[in-house]
Amino acid sequence: MAHVSDLIATDIGAYLKQHETKSLLRFITCGSVDDGKSTLIGRLLYDSKMIFEDQLAALESDSKKMGTQGENIDFALLVDGLAAEREQGITIDVAYRFFSTDKRKFIVADTPGHEQYTRNMVTGASTADLAVILIDARKGVLTQTRRHSYLVSLLGIRNVVLAINKMDAVGYSREVFDRILGDYMAFAAPLAIEKIVPIPISALMGDNITERSGNMSWYAGPTLMSHLETVSIARQPSGAAFRMPVQWVNRPNMNFRGFSGLIAAGTIFPGDPVKIMPSARQSRVASVILDGEMPYATAGQSVTITLEDEVDCSRGDVICAGESPAEVSDQFETTLVWMNDNPMLSGRSYLMKIGAKTVTASVTTLKHKVNVNTLEQSAARDLKLNEIGVCNISLDQAIAFDPYEENRHTGGFILIDRLTNETVAAGLIHFALRRAQNIHWQSVDVGREARADQKRQRPCVLWFTGLSGAGKSTIANLVERRLFAMGKHTYMLDGDNVRHGLCRDLGFTNADRVENIRRVGEVAKLMADAGLIVLASFISPFRSERDMVRRLLPEGDFLEVFVDVPLDVAESRDPKGLYKKARAGEITNFTGVSSPYEPPETPELHIQTAKMRPEDAAELIVAGLEARGLLRGGDA
Ligand code: ADX
Repeated sequence: MAHVSDLIATDIGAYLKQHETKSLLRFITCGSVDDGKSTLIGRLLYDSKMIFEDQLAALESDSKKMGTQGENIDFALLVDGLAAEREQGITIDVAYRFFSTDKRKFIVADTPGHEQYTRNMVTGASTADLAVILIDARKGVLTQTRRHSYLVSLLGIRNVVLAINKMDAVGYSREVFDRILGDYMAFAAPLAIEKIVPIPISALMGDNITERSGNMSWYAGPTLMSHLETVSIARQPSGAAFRMPVQWVNRPNMNFRGFSGLIAAGTIFPGDPVKIMPSARQSRVASVILDGEMPYATAGQSVTITLEDEVDCSRGDVICAGESPAEVSDQFETTLVWMNDNPMLSGRSYLMKIGAKTVTASVTTLKHKVNVNTLEQSAARDLKLNEIGVCNISLDQAIAFDPYEENRHTGGFILIDRLTNETVAAGLIHFALRRAQNIHWQSVDVGREARADQKRQRPCVLWFTGLSGAGKSTIANLVERRLFAMGKHTYMLDGDNVRHGLCRDLGFTNADRVENIRRVGEVAKLMADAGLIVLASFISPFRSERDMVRRLLPEGDFLEVFVDVPLDVAESRDPKGLYKKARAGEITNFTGVSSPYEPPETPELHIQTAKMRPEDAAELIVAGLEARGLLRGGDA
């Protein structure tokens, strides 16, 4: 049997073509199943006849099976049926449904309504022109209503319909409607929503959906459908400065080189001067190709552009209007919506995807988080699932951008976890931090190589990681003594010692450990740069941060030494009596007991200290350094 979603999918192409000349409204519905969201979407699809005959028959019989009373079709069954299908397959977080009327065609983004699905709402809202915020008239304004409205305003949707649903269940009462509207307006006043249109409806009974309700003669406004059909949509103005992030470089042969992408703003004509950002190289448009050569193309169209010169331009660059190019920076103030179970940690490095560009980013400062219920700002150390914060972020290279307020495409981004590849946050750029422009790299004449040569050694970082009590410091100490005896210039960084000075302000929360390793990593890098062989001995429980230190150093100069011991062995040793205290609950966040340890997957050296004396472990490590040629040039 064909699935409902297949039927819809196969017809979309043909369907959209047939309705090509009508304007398109993209909207999102916000609310939960309990608010009647599925019923509302089902009703809109049904009333616009987008449900095909055989689906309808299936729906009617299902509704009967489910014991739906009278002749009412349970519209929620249709939409929830699709949702269930979705959940079985690969995750599609947002379902887009298509329908049309005589006046307009519509794409509605339907997102799962539970609170933990902020992520899906952000995805759906990021392309929407309008949001329908559903409220259950019996319940009024809820936490999630506030959350949804804040997200909607944050993501730049300026048109909101406040659909106060289930009016039938409150006797179609004008008082209830007015009270909810009053509550909502009081909350929404500070949000940047230009237009809020309240409509009392009953999705179940069909009041004020397509037909005016006879039950609410006190209401003089439009029905939901007529509002959706006529509301004017403010898009990225086509008069704005031209922007096109390059998705791919189309080079079928030596005679043709085109740059393809979606025009994010503005209009482009052959002959227009352009700048390729961030490099700011200049050229002119030779041709604009869509279905063949076009006289021009504008925001929202996907095109291929050819240029008059052979300028450097690659995937991720942004082709901009020559006279007003995008800004360029590597540090920003942003808003982040955190969408992952693992909290955001300042100092951790993530991948940032903006347009077609991917760079490395880390949060340098979490300035505050925003309480979506009260819009109050509060200080925070991390951002948890669904939390929203204003953060400064810093990138490993400069990118072209516009403030999100000016352009959703060139000002919006996502953050991706490097290890799991999950999208962990959606972000909006506010502005570039001025300091980014004012700090330059001071170049020095005596370089890394010269310093290392003078010491007649090859600098590197030996990074000892493992549980407390594994023997890291003991072994590192023995290794250092051997290297010292060989005439090597070394330095040892040790967790307990560094925490008396440089990292004195840090404790053992995940956030503090990330910052601890970030600082120590930077210090280790400087010391290696100074020509030293650095021995760093830290629990460093997270792969992410160990990998970050690895990336700070030239390839081959970072050696991860996994000092591996079963937890029970470390615990029985308990040299500092800390495990005992941790088990007694006197120390919180203790690694192995109440805080995780992520073992290295492919360490350069793996030492199992339960099976080996520390002296032998040290020998093994020195031999490992020799085998890698890291001890050559010494004067032992
Ligand atoms: S790390 O996790 O940030 O890398 P680090 O190596 O600097 O930790 O410090 C670990 C040392 O701090 C341990 O050897 C132990 O002596 C001490 N310590 C105190 N409290 C804790 C704790 N909650 N978890 C782990 N180690 C702790």
